[in-house]
Amino acid sequence: MLSLANAFDEKDLVNFEKKINNFLNINDEHHIEYSVEPKIDGISASLIYEKGKFVTGLSRGDGKEGEDITLNLKTINDIPKTIKDKDFPDTIDIRGEVYINNFDFEKLKDKFANPRNAASGSLRQKNPEDTKKIPLRFIAYSFGHQKGLKLETQTDFLEKLHMWGFKTNPLNKKLIGVNNLIKNYDKIEKKRADLEFDIDGIVYKINNFQLQKRLGNVANAPRWAIAHKFSANKAISEIKDIEIQIGRTGALTPVAKIKPINIGGVLVSNATLHNEDEILRKDIRVGDIVTVERAGDVIPHVLSVDVSKRKNKSKKFTFPKKCPCGYETIKEFNKVTKKFDAVRRCPDRGFECDRIAKEKLKHFVSKEAFNIDGFGKKIVENFWKLNLIKLPQDIFKLDYDKIQKLDGWGKLSAENLRYSVDEKRQISLERFIYSLGIRHIGLENAKLLSRYFGSFLKFKTLSKKNNYNDLLNIDGIGETQIISIKNFFSKNINLTILNELDKLLDIQNVKVINNNGVLRDKSFLVTGKLNNISRAEVKSLIEENSGTTVSSVSKKLDYLITGEKPTKRKVESAKALNVKIINQDEFLKMLNKTS
Ligand code: IVH
Repeated sequence: MLSLANAFDEKDLVNFEKKINNFLNINDEHHIEYSVEPKIDGISASLIYEKGKFVTGLSRGDGKEGEDITLNLKTINDIPKTIKDKDFPDTIDIRGEVYINNFDFEKLKDKFANPRNAASGSLRQKNPEDTKKIPLRFIAYSFGHQKGLKLETQTDFLEKLHMWGFKTNPLNKKLIGVNNLIKNYDKIEKKRADLEFDIDGIVYKINNFQLQKRLGNVANAPRWAIAHKFSANKAISEIKDIEIQIGRTGALTPVAKIKPINIGGVLVSNATLHNEDEILRKDIRVGDIVTVERAGDVIPHVLSVDVSKRKNKSKKFTFPKKCPCGYETIKEFNKVTKKFDAVRRCPDRGFECDRIAKEKLKHFVSKEAFNIDGFGKKIVENFWKLNLIKLPQDIFKLDYDKIQKLDGWGKLSAENLRYSVDEKRQISLERFIYSLGIRHIGLENAKLLSRYFGSFLKFKTLSKKNNYNDLLNIDGIGETQIISIKNFFSKNINLTILNELDKLLDIQNVKVINNNGVLRDKSFLVTGKLNNISRAEVKSLIEENSGTTVSSVSKKLDYLITGEKPTKRKVESAKALNVKIINQDEFLKMLNKTS
């Protein structure tokens, strides 16, 4: 099976048409007739029919040799098993796309990133009974080897396919000239989120088979077809609703719930609207048709609104002035910029606001904080809803008998969770302070504070001594941090949390930094994912042993520690600069530790 060349804009299409005309020695002004077909983002399959019977089904495999998936394909209702028509060729290999429609995908979305992965996974099942459980569909669009096909154009072939009982794409068209291709592309791009299936572009095929034959192939793609792809980082969709999410620091973030749309292979259904001011500035409303951008790993966001598509009855969005916990929200005044913040917040209530508390719990178990293995955001959400955890201390008092009886849990998974939680009862003061999620106290400030206090007891009794201003002596801690720390200690709920955690945990005193440690005068940089140890932990291990960490590869770097999937560029520059490259075990050996 061949693949298709890609076009991204009008210029690419004009060039495509020019090249075809040149090849065929036709006047440049000639406008070609195309079969125009939405490009379903599924898995291509080849169905071989002998004397009207479906005998063998292959997946694309490596393009040369397909994988035999006949039995799995036979479970798909859209694939006719026998065709009785005098025009149906004696032998024919019908090509098309196996896919899952967006509605059916809704039920599978916890298991797969997008409909394409779901289709691919179910087609590869060993047992066809497992494939049968997934609502796979098939759309036919082309043919391979055949004997006895008497047609002249692709659009006639598509019509015949339909008559023979195959599903074909209802949006297929016959068009002439690049202008019309562009108009159709724009129209379909706007409709994309409403379609039943995921498409990632439009395929244009020279309609006439004789011309196709003359044009032939280049490398592994036909000269007579091209795929006009949709942008890999932008797409148009509709806002179904605007939800307000409450963050760990009380910020109210509006999130647009959009009709799910595939942007560069990822199904996007949420797009951030940043804050109240952004909604006002762009006048974003429920029901709006918007362009959503997803660039790199950044959260998708609404880029612009197509106001021309707005319905008359559409209403301005009113931003809630209250947090769901009932408290009036505020916009803080920034003394430096002398302006009110764009962000509206539930005033710094911390664990007193149960919405904020839930987000604080996610932070508490996260990688750089308690780093409880397997205790992710989803588990926090679930346990919070079930009232199993409301405050940090609840995490260390979980009722595992109850947990093992929950949906999706069992004895083994509950035991594993108990093990992961118990393993983290011992913690450094620095991580502990960070995990409390005090506003403006990130990893660096938590480290400064822990060095200043030295022990949990001293930290805990800060409120009793009421000497907050002494903290100004810490290089790096300023007024903003002090106000926030004072606010934290002014709440009884936080003092209770500290007392409870004190009973349940072993919070270690600060280790005196060893200026004469084994890593003295050595600098380190980590690239890639390490096993069972976070970047923050590696950093503190290095510093405890008198080493330093740097942020880029240079002549000054002594060791590059590589984990899984290291950044190639870093490894290559390290090699070029003769920097020693070591793995996690080799690093731990330097400290006389093993993983
Ligand atoms: S024709 C010459 N028509 O796109 C290759 N392909 O990048 C024959 N696809 O592997 C492909 N819809 O999985 C063709 N209407 C359509 C298509 C289509 C989706 C997929 C197919 C193919 C890939 C090519």
